Amino acid sequence: MDLERVKRFAGDIALKRAGASAVLLSYLGDKLDIWRAMAGAGPLDSGELAARTGLSERHLREWLAAQAVAGHVIYDPGRGTFELPDEHAAVLADPDSPAYQGGGLECAAAFWLAADRIAEDFRTGRGVGWHEHDPRLFSGVARFFEPLYRTALVGQWLPALDGVADRLREGAHVLDVGCGHGGSTVLMAQTYPQSHFMGVDYHEESIAAAREAAKRAGVADRVEFLVADAHSYPAGSWDLICFFDALHDMGDPLGAAARARASLAPGGAVMVVEPFARDRLEDSIGSLVALSYYTASTMVCVPNSLAQDGAALGAQAGPDALAEMLRLAGFGRVRTALETDFNLVLEARP
Ligand SMILES: C[S@@+](CC[C@H](N)C(=O)[O-])C[C@H]1O[C@@H](n2cnc3c(N)ncnc32)[C@H](O)[C@@H]1O
Repeated sequence: MDLERVKRFAGDIALKRAGASAVLLSYLGDKLDIWRAMAGAGPLDSGELAARTGLSERHLREWLAAQAVAGHVIYDPGRGTFELPDEHAAVLADPDSPAYQGGGLECAAAFWLAADRIAEDFRTGRGVGWHEHDPRLFSGVARFFEPLYRTALVGQWLPALDGVADRLREGAHVLDVGCGHGGSTVLMAQTYPQSHFMGVDYHEESIAAAREAAKRAGVADRVEFLVADAHSYPAGSWDLICFFDALHDMGDPLGAAARARASLAPGGAVMVVEPFARDRLEDSIGSLVALSYYTASTMVCVPNSLAQDGAALGAQAGPDALAEMLRLAGFGRVRTALETDFNLVLEARP
């Protein structure tokens, strides 16, 4: 036994436990709207924060102390106040900021809430459907992706596909498969007023939320949301079919891709946006991005796929495996159009 190695590893695990604690308390700040109450408010003591939020002063005092220890807020010992700097507010309190991570905190809560069910699923191997999770998963994922979509989808991902952005500007028919709360569909509809959009997802509650989002954004006349799975959406002739972080979740991703291929209009394309992944596990060792995605994959993506037909591709299949699957589905031209720190964008054409 190498005692130095034991010491180092104990320190590593302790650090990760502390990180999990910081996430838990920060999630409470998100759920209770404490971050928003602190944003732009300058230095506050626990009594002032209690008055602003209507929450218990004693609980807030303990929570603020933990946030100061974590470095999330700045403590002034002279005045006994706590301040959320604007730069931290952009990450914790402002859903319009590209750096916002409130959705990720909510997803972490949903993962922990699923722990017992997933533990049982390790024993049975039957799978746990997306719809069986705590609703925090659905809103958390939507809130997690929306800042990313606002930053990247229109500005980077669509322009990376051959001629697709032009086609959308002129007027195209676009299908978003596994659209969840419809953040991507609504954003595309807002950007391309000449085009028409349909979002489908097998999860009824998500489709209800997506319809509300389209109404709020004033695009409901050009966006239809339907409860349908990747095999049962209405046959059509689509210029663009998108899968945003959804293909690997499906029980039969090969069948879903083949159906998409058969549903394309002449000259149409399929865009598959997946979490960034490498082809070989050994190339991801130590990557925090891969650790986050493997966690989501273990807790949600693989169990959901197993609960359907069970291909269980996982969120870290890698670009080669994804491209191979798309070729098997009948696409003659498949390429990785873009790689970013967090995503792979694949373009597939017949
Ligand atoms: C990780 S979420 C992504 C949601 C959305 N695309 C987004 O970017 O916010 C995966 C979505 O795939 C949906 N899904 C899973 N299996 C499906 C299937 N077989 N057919 C249609 N949707 C499916 C889930 O209901 C869920 O909304």
